[in-house]
Amino acid sequence: MSRRTNPFLPWLASLAAWPALLAAATVDDAALVRTPPMGWNSWNYFGDAVTDADIRRTADLLVSTGMAAAGYRYVIIDDGWQGQRDAQGRLHPNAKFPDMKALADYVHGKGLKFGIYSSPGEKTCSGYAGSYGHEAEDARTFASWDVDYLKYDLCSYRKQLVGKPLDEQTAMMKGAFRTMRKALDATGRPVVYALCSYGWGRVWEWGGEVGGNLWRTTIDIEQSYQSMMFNASAEAGLEGYAGPGHWNDPDMLEVGNKGFESPDMQRTHMSLWVLLAAPLIAGNDLAGMSPATREVLTDPEVLAIGQDARGVPGRRVQQRGAIQLWARPLADGSVAVGLLNTLDHATTATLDLHALGMGSSVSARDVWQHRDLGPIDAQHVFEVPTYGTVLLKLKPAQASR
Ligand code: GLA
Repeated sequence: MSRRTNPFLPWLASLAAWPALLAAATVDDAALVRTPPMGWNSWNYFGDAVTDADIRRTADLLVSTGMAAAGYRYVIIDDGWQGQRDAQGRLHPNAKFPDMKALADYVHGKGLKFGIYSSPGEKTCSGYAGSYGHEAEDARTFASWDVDYLKYDLCSYRKQLVGKPLDEQTAMMKGAFRTMRKALDATGRPVVYALCSYGWGRVWEWGGEVGGNLWRTTIDIEQSYQSMMFNASAEAGLEGYAGPGHWNDPDMLEVGNKGFESPDMQRTHMSLWVLLAAPLIAGNDLAGMSPATREVLTDPEVLAIGQDARGVPGRRVQQRGAIQLWARPLADGSVAVGLLNTLDHATTATLDLHALGMGSSVSARDVWQHRDLGPIDAQHVFEVPTYGTVLLKLKPAQASR
């Protein structure tokens, strides 16, 4: 969908005899995110106080903690890096980021990717300079820094929408997002494009059409169980809009941040994000990360569900009182299932195999516990901790001989 032609192609084509080179000279951003992107973003922990030193230290820690090896590759500076425009209109970083290209080189030198943030409005959400009227210039600046990922956040562009009919608002948002996509493409550099409009205008219906590789479906996540559940629940019913190259984004992870120290809550947050096929953009302070948080963020079996090659997001199958059942079909024919307890005390729950479309008996693996449970049926009782989740991989049980 977002395979685009490199602007230099006509010139290259005039050289006629270079078919192999021509094949390589296309910008295919969707290919960069065949599975949901994984990385780290500065906003949830550092806010707009983030500095060059924070980013360098985070890049170091992504590698030394094993997060990078687990798949967290994009290091994204959110709001707060921008300084002033010069007489030519070029936007410079503020004093906290003395040399953005050198910082990008440092991040790339660690084998990681480098991401940045801007807005189609005149101002970003924290009041820094946005890209309005300077899209082409800013895209060229980002390309000169070797940026690999852009989060583009509506922010003050919203002011221009006030009082307009809804369909006009949507058309304007589409136009604003498309303008930056075109500007990025014109640089010839592949850039993952993350749209942020908090779900406005039902962005999931047109985010891919305007060249987005992911789009925020909701308001900002906050550091509470309720906020995390709200954002996850808002994606129930949106699963048909996402797939390889274009993903629904319920916002960045709070795992390891204030309010999310409880391992059971952390596991629920991660379970939902991998079941939803959500981007996994960590937002915690890696310097202060506990071993338990690291384990939750890097669990290989859990991340394998999130990065499953089939790329089909899960859906909420059932809500029975305080128990929710979510399921995601996987490439190997098995089904990842989350059994969630939304109560503030532990409880027990059984699986509705019929609602899951499975036979009367399945073979189950407890994913967080890395343990095969063998064949189970609808009478099998699971203990689900406070605000916790049992994450399972289910396969139809082998027919007995
Ligand atoms: C908005 C976005 C957040 C963050 C802030 C930065 O609120 O939704 O994710 O980028 O802006 O100001």
